[in-house]
Amino acid sequence: MFHTSHIEISKSAYKKNIRYLKKLVGPDTVISSVIKGNAYGHGIENIVPLAEISGISHFSVFSASEALQANSIKSAHSTLMIMGLLDDEEIEWAIKNDVEFFVFDMGRLHKTIEIASKLKKKAHLHIEVETGFHRTGFDSDEIPELVQFLKKNQEHFYFEGLCTHYAGAESIANYVRIREQISLYRKYNRYFNRHNLIPARKHTACSAAVLTYPTTIMDMVRIGIAQYGFWPSTETQMFRFKKEPQNTNPLKRLITWKTRVMVVKNVEAGQFIGYGSSFLANKKMKIAIIPVGYSNGFSRSLSNMGRVLIRGKRVPVIGTVTMNTMTVNVSDIPNIEKGDEVVIIGKQKRMNISVASFSDLSSQVNYQTLTRLPADIPRYIVK
Ligand SMILES: Cc1ncc(COP(=O)(O)O)c(C=O)c1O
Repeated sequence: MFHTSHIEISKSAYKKNIRYLKKLVGPDTVISSVIKGNAYGHGIENIVPLAEISGISHFSVFSASEALQANSIKSAHSTLMIMGLLDDEEIEWAIKNDVEFFVFDMGRLHKTIEIASKLKKKAHLHIEVETGFHRTGFDSDEIPELVQFLKKNQEHFYFEGLCTHYAGAESIANYVRIREQISLYRKYNRYFNRHNLIPARKHTACSAAVLTYPTTIMDMVRIGIAQYGFWPSTETQMFRFKKEPQNTNPLKRLITWKTRVMVVKNVEAGQFIGYGSSFLANKKMKIAIIPVGYSNGFSRSLSNMGRVLIRGKRVPVIGTVTMNTMTVNVSDIPNIEKGDEVVIIGKQKRMNISVASFSDLSSQVNYQTLTRLPADIPRYIVK
């Protein structure tokens, strides 16, 4: 064992999540599995094959470097789509490899058409329109020029999609803004259609939109967090709660993060534990040193706050989390031994530590906690 911790990824949980999401979106809607951010920390190399055996054949990434990685793993039948960064050289690579990509400014569009005509190969384009998120997307005053340019250059591209992204569909506070985005997107779609530019797929929805705004489910949906078994927010979960049979949670977490006890020792009352003086033992204590610290993705803000599971008990982190270790109070586990299993995220016997509780304590959202899990922690697929 050459690593201080490992992550297990549940194949059956992933399959259940996809089954649930497929039922929600219906048989005519394609699910694009969003695998940016190292597949939300799960590892692109793990999720792509899992998704493919679960019936997914479309993947969304942020950058060309992620696409390059996914391209070497995916099967020949699957399609990749780059939603973000792509420089000129990468456009050429994408066209040559039939990788689809978002176009959200005239500069990228001109370059794409220039390269596609030089290569004599059509580019697979998704035109992103700005509907109110204000990140990427063509603004309303650019649309007429865009449409004319697209009409003139139709022999150089496939119009694969017309898309946009919502500005926080996971929160009811954004309801008005999301509704405005939906109606603006429809308006743009009608405008494109009037000019005989018909996208193969209309797509706007991320997980939260699929779960709470059914009208956003169009020809394709781009699902990230939900496929990994997480709710985009508690509000989203509550919205669905009443609709599920027996009010069960249909989304199953894939990951369990585990390590082992490195050292067990006793500390006398009146001693400070760890760096500085943030924790004072007020009685004789038994402590365990765990070989996971902030360099391994266990946030330093969980000092004196976090919890881990050992022998089926939830035990508190005491003192400051260091670069490579944390210390936990195991006074209530008299038979604890070096080498005992420690669960940082996941279930042990009847106890559970969710990513959400971990995230809440460290003031992060699930997305952040997951994508901050270092890529070098080994991930294993389990049943
Ligand atoms: C453009 C785009 N589409 C879809 C997604 C997937 O979002 P989620 O993980 O909430 O499903 C993201 C993620 O941030 C995104 O940037």
